[in-house]
Amino acid sequence: MSDTPPVVYAGPKRILSGVQTSGQLHLGNYLGAIVKFVRLQEEAECFYFLADMHAITVWQDPDKLADQMREVAAAFIASGVDPAKAAIFPQSAVPEHAELAWIFNCVARLGWLDRMTQFKEKSGQHKERSSVGLYTYPVLQAADILVYKATHVPVGEDQKQHLELTRDIAQKFNNDFGAQGFFPITEPVIEGPGARIMSLRDGAAKMSKSDPSDNSRINLLDDADAMATKIRKAKTDPEPLPETLDELKARPEADNLVGIYAALSGVTKAQALTEFAGKGFGAFKPALADLTVAKLGPIGAEMRRLLADPAEIDRVLKIGVEKARAVAAPVVADTKRLVGFWSPKP
Ligand code: TYM
Repeated sequence: MSDTPPVVYAGPKRILSGVQTSGQLHLGNYLGAIVKFVRLQEEAECFYFLADMHAITVWQDPDKLADQMREVAAAFIASGVDPAKAAIFPQSAVPEHAELAWIFNCVARLGWLDRMTQFKEKSGQHKERSSVGLYTYPVLQAADILVYKATHVPVGEDQKQHLELTRDIAQKFNNDFGAQGFFPITEPVIEGPGARIMSLRDGAAKMSKSDPSDNSRINLLDDADAMATKIRKAKTDPEPLPETLDELKARPEADNLVGIYAALSGVTKAQALTEFAGKGFGAFKPALADLTVAKLGPIGAEMRRLLADPAEIDRVLKIGVEKARAVAAPVVADTKRLVGFWSPKP
């Protein structure tokens, strides 16, 4: 056994996350990720990007892709991400992501990717017709994170496995290239009742933009009537709300609505229950609808205002790209040196 202790990462705390630009953002994206982006920007340097390279792992209309990207940028800003504190930028505008992803494709093992449940879900019955990009998607995600040596990544529960893969890739790279402590072993930030928001139609399925039923989700750009109607129609059961969390466990739809209420009001589920225990959904749903409209209504309105001036959004994005490249380029240069790639003699 060696006497030298393992070298641990000693770089600064850095926060990073990304959201795919593949269409409408919903309440799950907001509570699982964007709310945390806003809170964390007070704590360290932040990088929040628009994952357009991940979006094209399934077909995207080229005429819409850039506008979809601006819509996600508008959602970040309207929700309170401050471009002066956090770099906001399109992934495809920072080529270092793709460059590092290739190196990581040669570090990650096939067996690791074979275990990824999201690929299995997304490729469904037609694995052989899926893009190769969909398969190596988590490797690009690892590159997104490590190209900034990000130490903390706020995401929803569904990204947990991808974050574990990122840690494995960092560890293996550091070991293989004799570079302990070069890449950090990134911590996921998955917390609170917003980390896993379920469909309004089925408490066993995640709220998702790919669900064919629009009633299954609240979109950030829904108007107040649509939000209230979707909550009124949300699947529930006939029982009143219980007093304890334990009693909610067997009632996934009720559990989900209580979780949404708690996450939107910034309290725990137990605290939300004390307010509504013993009351039926006839009382709870209107309260939840009012809260949802009060929180999301102004965000949707601000998104519309921002989207009316795409040049202003682009100005913010250009600054974000510059900030991002300033950090990413030296990391890729150091990585290439460790791998042994050629660089001209001085
Ligand atoms: P995406 O675009 O599917 O989702 C964006 C963020 O929203 C969270 N989320 C949810 N949280 C709670 N409940 C839900 N129902 C729900 N649905 C989505 C996701 O967990 C995510 O945080 N692979 C990522 C994008 C990505 C990324 C990265 C994230 C690419 N590179 C690097 C972090 C770091 C994705 O598809 O997220």
